[in-house]
Amino acid sequence: MSKALHRSLLRNPPHAVKGDGPYLIDETGKRYLDACGGAAVSCLGHSHPDVITAVQKQVAKLPYAHTSFFTTDVLEELADTLVEGAPGMGKVMLLSGGSESVEAALKLSRQYFLESGEPERHLFIARRQSYHGNTLGALAVGGNEWRRESFRPLLVEGHHIAPCFEYRERLETETQDEYCERVAVELETKIIDLGPQNVAGFVAETVVGATAGAVVATPGYFRRIREICDRYGIHLILDEVMCGTGRTGSMMAYQQEHIIPDIVTMAKGLAAGYQPAGALLCRSEIVDTIRNNSGFFQHGHTFMGHATAVAASLATLQAIKKEKLLENVVKRGKQIRAGLRDALGNHPNVGDIRGRGLFIGVEFVADRETKKPFDPALKTHNKVQQAAMDNGLLCYGMGGTIDGRRGDHVLIAPPYNLNESQQEEVVEKFSASATQSLPA
Ligand SMILES: Cc1ncc(COP(=O)(O)O)c(C=O)c1O
Repeated sequence: MSKALHRSLLRNPPHAVKGDGPYLIDETGKRYLDACGGAAVSCLGHSHPDVITAVQKQVAKLPYAHTSFFTTDVLEELADTLVEGAPGMGKVMLLSGGSESVEAALKLSRQYFLESGEPERHLFIARRQSYHGNTLGALAVGGNEWRRESFRPLLVEGHHIAPCFEYRERLETETQDEYCERVAVELETKIIDLGPQNVAGFVAETVVGATAGAVVATPGYFRRIREICDRYGIHLILDEVMCGTGRTGSMMAYQQEHIIPDIVTMAKGLAAGYQPAGALLCRSEIVDTIRNNSGFFQHGHTFMGHATAVAASLATLQAIKKEKLLENVVKRGKQIRAGLRDALGNHPNVGDIRGRGLFIGVEFVADRETKKPFDPALKTHNKVQQAAMDNGLLCYGMGGTIDGRRGDHVLIAPPYNLNESQQEEVVEKFSASATQSLPA
């Protein structure tokens, strides 16, 4: 038995030994088309020459310098590049992953209010069925009951409203606009309940990823949310750890919602998996306020701004730009969704095929008409994921789509540089695997 504490304590996973473009190769030589990049991480595949060279050069020159003593040229260039690609944002903090970035966002928001003369603002509101990370602060704001349950006594107070999940939650009697208004107004009601003077921020994934399966908000939802946040003076914190860095076809997912957040987090695709990386971006005014008061953001980690991670992130952003990959994300995303709809659109157990760009979700149901989910004990999402793996395709299955317990979906998040034949392979292998493992 391995000495490594793997995610499953019951079995050891196969050994991955090599990457080749969008393929991962295991120790038996079996090739898997990586159509989920782990969890939407490997956005350039597993052997991008420019990113590999950038990492190698940086390690040879200077692997790491602690950020309390130094900055680096590569860190400054990455900060400039990120700000340039994120409308409305003025400052960047470079971190090592998604949860770290969310923790930093919560603390930055809190410290801002402390120093801007509203010290009672400390509460955060998020949405049910959201995921913001596994560290205690991020878990406390996240809305996935299954992940929170065991650790509830350790969590700070977090408040939740409905997600914007039209396929599951729009009533038959409601128009799209009425639904959108109903769920957005839940934020206002919650703020009033908690006392607006106590609320610091509203945290939401711009496109919901792991827990609900690429759920895009109803048009106009985020504009309404922005208005409500502005009315009560609270921060809109968008978590783009999974959906950002070009995954939905724009560098920042919020660009397609026509709003500017106060703080936004990124990670996963930021360094494309060549290094662990995360980032927090915010409006300049937040940092200016702190600069003019304490002059110090009271937060930090040993590995933040790590030069090699930063070099990998910069090379990733440069590759996305140089190779015009955002256009490919939009094109291939449409093709994959269309291909899946052709192959599975009438399957009695496929309820919804959704997403934006190369962030695609397929939700499975026991009954298409009533949208009744499968019995959770069947672990339908696992069956599809396992069949796909057997067929040489990696996709990311998850249960609890509806309420943390019921519902099954699979996330497809292939690399941005996927070519036509690889795109066809994703559709063929996924459709075959779903058909094999679904009952009807
Ligand atoms: C939206 C979102 N936020 C935060 C996180 C946490 O990121 P990490 O696992 O890098 O800590 C994730 C991870 O899946 C995520 O999807």
